[in-house]
Amino acid sequence: MLNATINRKYEHIDIVIRENIVYPSLCSDIYSNIKFVHNAFPGLNYNDIDLSINFLGYSLKAPLMITGITGGHRSVIKINELLAKIAEKYGIAIGVGSQRAMLETKSSEIIESYTVVRKVARNVPVLGNIGINTLSKIDLRSLIEALDKLNADALAIHLNPAQELIQPEGDIDFSNTLLNKLSELMDLINIPILIKEVGNGLSMEVVRLFHGLGIEIFDVAGACGTSWIAVEVYRAEKSGHKDKALLGKKLGGWGIPTPLSVIEARWAAPSSWIIASGGVWDGYKAALNIALGANMAGFALPILRAIINGGFEAGSKYIERYINELKAVMFLTGSHNVKELMNKPLYMPNSILAVLSSRGIDWNKYLEIKSG
Ligand SMILES: Cc1cc2nc3c(=O)[nH]c(=O)nc-3n(C[C@H](O)[C@H](O)[C@H](O)COP(=O)(O)O)c2cc1C
Repeated sequence: MLNATINRKYEHIDIVIRENIVYPSLCSDIYSNIKFVHNAFPGLNYNDIDLSINFLGYSLKAPLMITGITGGHRSVIKINELLAKIAEKYGIAIGVGSQRAMLETKSSEIIESYTVVRKVARNVPVLGNIGINTLSKIDLRSLIEALDKLNADALAIHLNPAQELIQPEGDIDFSNTLLNKLSELMDLINIPILIKEVGNGLSMEVVRLFHGLGIEIFDVAGACGTSWIAVEVYRAEKSGHKDKALLGKKLGGWGIPTPLSVIEARWAAPSSWIIASGGVWDGYKAALNIALGANMAGFALPILRAIINGGFEAGSKYIERYINELKAVMFLTGSHNVKELMNKPLYMPNSILAVLSSRGIDWNKYLEIKSG
């Protein structure tokens, strides 16, 4: 089991670096049809724009997070070290990949592939990670121990039914009994739990369900970026699982586009902390999702690709460009800080208002909820 987990994680990186596993058309309409209202007199000095936010007890320099990517293999120590260096340099949050391999091992290298993140990223939040359906297969105390080793500030629990469905060896038991396990964990754990998807988005119903259990942080990981269905299609084809590959291709762009998922999440849990991720790969998209109701933005694939192809320098350049784009939108909308950006007006096309209305979301009421 351990070797299978480790090899899969390694194979995933290989595929996402080499192959096209993105469905770009999913969100391009939404991003091009919602417009910011330009402010010809921003009423602020560009140099005074404040990007900082408070998250998990830290003051971040920008409202950004590198979401959970990896850990669990000797060869990814360097990757996590570089990602952590970038998080530390730019004062942004960082998550590790699923810690399942850490629970099943005594190997110091495997453990180090996670703990290196905390060693390097000392002054930013570090988030642990586990899949929800792993909870029923482990001793919850071993998870707490793994989080302690990482000195994690929060635990991200990922929901990934679409990925597991197409994954040749996928675990497709997402029964309600898992919620009892989650409650058990919540009684044991003394750090916050965050619920995240991995690229198919969170609906208002799912956010309501977990918020009802006491979860206050949601990373929507919507369907505009890395497609885990597409990744698993590659693996299914390679391992001769033709039916799974075919099903994955049929499901193609399955999922809730990120900006709509942000709105659904905020609608369902108005006071919660919402992270916009899933194809939020530039500062403009981050700004738009924040104006739609997210507190911060997250990304995985582009920073992974940047550091693998160009090391620390390329990763740094990526973040700097991202921050410049975000700052440009803040300037041109007259936003002194992230809180102000969250309340800037937007032009919303009728087509999107109709989609929201089909889900019972009245835009004007939403604006009231969003502004708190
Ligand atoms: C190589 C790779 C491995 C990942 N592994 C995990 C994981 O172990 N746990 C998790 O919650 N998300 C994992 N993710 C998902 C990301 O955290 C993120 O939700 C998803 O990729 C969507 O963001 P993006 O479009 O910016 O890549 C992984 C992403 C990548 C690229």
